[in-house]
Amino acid sequence: MMRGMSRPAPARLDAPSGGPLHEAVAERVRDLIRRRTFRPGDRLPSVRALGRQLGVGVNTVVQAYAALEAERVLEARPRAGHFVASPLLEPAGWTGGAARACAVPAGRAPLDVMRRLSDPALVNLGRVAPDPALLPVEALRRALAAEARRHPAAAVSYADSRGLRRLRTLVARRALDGGSHLAPDDLVITAGCTEAIALALQATCRSGDAVAIGSPIFGSFLDLIQSLGLRVVEIPTSPRDGPSLPALAAGLERGAVRAVIATPSFDNPTGSRMPDAAKRELVALLARHEVPLIEDDVYGELAFEGPRPGTAHGLDRRGRVLLCSSFSKTLAPGYRVGWIAAGRYAPQVERLQAIRHIAGAAPTQLAIAEFLSGGGYDRHLRSVRRRYAEQVARMRAAIGDAFPPGTRVTQPQGGYVLWVELPPPVDAFHLFERALELGVGIAPGPLFTLGPRFGSCLRLCAATWSERVARAVATVGRLACQQDAVDRPRAPVPRGAVR
Ligand SMILES: Cc1ncc(COP(=O)(O)O)c(C=O)c1O
Repeated sequence: MMRGMSRPAPARLDAPSGGPLHEAVAERVRDLIRRRTFRPGDRLPSVRALGRQLGVGVNTVVQAYAALEAERVLEARPRAGHFVASPLLEPAGWTGGAARACAVPAGRAPLDVMRRLSDPALVNLGRVAPDPALLPVEALRRALAAEARRHPAAAVSYADSRGLRRLRTLVARRALDGGSHLAPDDLVITAGCTEAIALALQATCRSGDAVAIGSPIFGSFLDLIQSLGLRVVEIPTSPRDGPSLPALAAGLERGAVRAVIATPSFDNPTGSRMPDAAKRELVALLARHEVPLIEDDVYGELAFEGPRPGTAHGLDRRGRVLLCSSFSKTLAPGYRVGWIAAGRYAPQVERLQAIRHIAGAAPTQLAIAEFLSGGGYDRHLRSVRRRYAEQVARMRAAIGDAFPPGTRVTQPQGGYVLWVELPPPVDAFHLFERALELGVGIAPGPLFTLGPRFGSCLRLCAATWSERVARAVATVGRLACQQDAVDRPRAPVPRGAVR
């Protein structure tokens, strides 16, 4: 597992020069875990036994075990001893710090990183897109051809600037599942969810306004907000439950926030799902401050189990939640078909869309409407939800096998992204470069914030699974273990302190 790493250490600790001895013991234990001498769930020697084996005192081992517990490398079980922790714990995410506004610097690296990740030769764990092998490619192709034959004039003409009515009707019916009560005329069809979010921002904000968003945040939104001359307020976010409402409330109290973007159902990059009570609280909080919520629901139909989560839009009674989504994550990102239900902002959105686009592309709207009305979509969703659940579980297990001790990874209940927190010595950008050299793409954590955060985090996409993907995950784990072993600050051992 640790091919290419340093030679095995001698059993007894007899390092020559200064530094806390317990850190040398802790590093010895980390190394044994990296080398798989002890695996997750295994019991470590008692403090007395390890002290004897390494030739150090019991108190030194107690200190070392306490440090490893704090790092979540070990867990202490009462009256049973110390065990190697499961690496599959939920990450801590960014829980501290106040919300703050900052200008988005121009020329950020994320676009460059994304461009480098678009190399088709890579095993790409870094980009987030459905696996074409799991999409109903043939059924969509048939629908496209049949609709172009059936409606030859409509397929080549300008559509209604709000989009095809038949499609809007079908989207309105589907929105009932999320709790939304919509008429076809409440919807505008867009070129994907990204355009829906852009329209929502333009309808609700003016240049220089601040937009609050959970952090880590889907990097493209940072670029989008910048391109519209707006500022970002990053809200600390739990990778399990979504943005911190007290932090958001503090930002709102300061009166600095003009709109909020949230992805309550299976956020990118963390996969978090806001509990229903938090969604209700969010909608109520924003209603009190008269601030609109731009809700991104692009993964909402990809719950692994049970019915899809309700939307915040479904809880809104004041027309202040703008629901944005698309078929990009479920059906066909290349078709560029999304939608927005903009509530009280609908007139501005309709106007902006008519001015900027005249109309969306008719053929793909016709094809998706045909596919939806045939009932194929629900069958397709049932099958991909199962597949994504399996693939996410496999990728988590592969991470558990290969990544360094102390790694944490999310356990999403839908979608296909995993957020991984590596032990702090591991530098995500460095890992990105090393993985690229070996033909593997990963998305480093700093892409998902403007602040100095998430430097040891990664986003991995589990939309595809194969032997090749499994090997790619193992490669990233091996590189991370090497970095962890090499870059961890080594505490020299004081001369004479070792018996
Ligand atoms: C949360 C989120 N919103 C929107 C998008 C983009 O959607 P679309 O391709 O429909 O514009 C993505 C794509 O990765 C996403 O993860």
